[in-house]
Amino acid sequence: MSGKVTREKENKKMKNTVSTLLVQKQSGDKITMLTAYDYTTAKIMDECGVNAILVGDSLGMVMLGYENTLPVTMEDMIHHTAAVSRGVENAFVVADMPFMSYQVSVQQAVTNAGRLVKEGGANAVKLEGGAEVCEQIEAIVNASIPVVAHLGLTPQSVNAFGGFKVQGKSLEKAEKLLEDAVRIQQAGACAVVLEGIPARLAQLITDKLVIPTIGIGAGNGCDGQVLVYQDMMGLTTGHTAKFVKCFAPLGSVMRDGIKEYISETKSGAFPAEEHTYAMDDAVISKLMEENQ
Ligand code: KIV
Repeated sequence: MSGKVTREKENKKMKNTVSTLLVQKQSGDKITMLTAYDYTTAKIMDECGVNAILVGDSLGMVMLGYENTLPVTMEDMIHHTAAVSRGVENAFVVADMPFMSYQVSVQQAVTNAGRLVKEGGANAVKLEGGAEVCEQIEAIVNASIPVVAHLGLTPQSVNAFGGFKVQGKSLEKAEKLLEDAVRIQQAGACAVVLEGIPARLAQLITDKLVIPTIGIGAGNGCDGQVLVYQDMMGLTTGHTAKFVKCFAPLGSVMRDGIKEYISETKSGAFPAEEHTYAMDDAVISKLMEENQ
């Protein structure tokens, strides 16, 4: 009996929280995070047991077709976060704060973070930057909303960086990133995404911080990894970054399926008998008689 209870407990997946993510760091159990932007995808990821789902403002590029993340609005983020939240039972849902939703004032940052939680159902918000956004992080955390920070190649700074370039390679830039990492932790961030930085620097930051680091293009020394869903499923066309690995070639599976659908529809092979609803012979005969 007690063996059965234990087994049932083991099989029951638990809700991921700021505390469970911290325990994962402490025990060396790597944190898995993926981006999702819709109900169906989020539900599949959640059922597979991913620890966290990021509703990234990358949705501007992979869902809405913008050149970068800058045009994404609060309404876009709330709309997609709410869809993801409806599909999730156990994953920790993190919603990105879009460009200019937190930079202008601390008050605006808290208001917008609150909307992502109240209207989007997020468990935490993520914002980009180091020392310059510590006031915002502190105020949002004081409103009982967990904050994930984001350092390194922060896409909202694409214009300031002059493109999507690896960050933290020089001593001065690496020192600044290390200092920022400590500052955001002191401000109360519960985790930090490290994007597009050298692996050895990411390892150093990971060792220095108590909070978990989640890497993307930052090597395997981080406490966890995050990938954009379209990248890891081979749905992205054109240039993909060096750090991207395709885990399932959904792009080519989709292309084959769509071509097959076009071909079968044109030839009349689809829909077949098994995809078609039947009707009583007497009813159809009467109808045909009436419509001759
Ligand atoms: O918006 C996003 O998807 C992100 C990840 C790249 C970390 O911020």
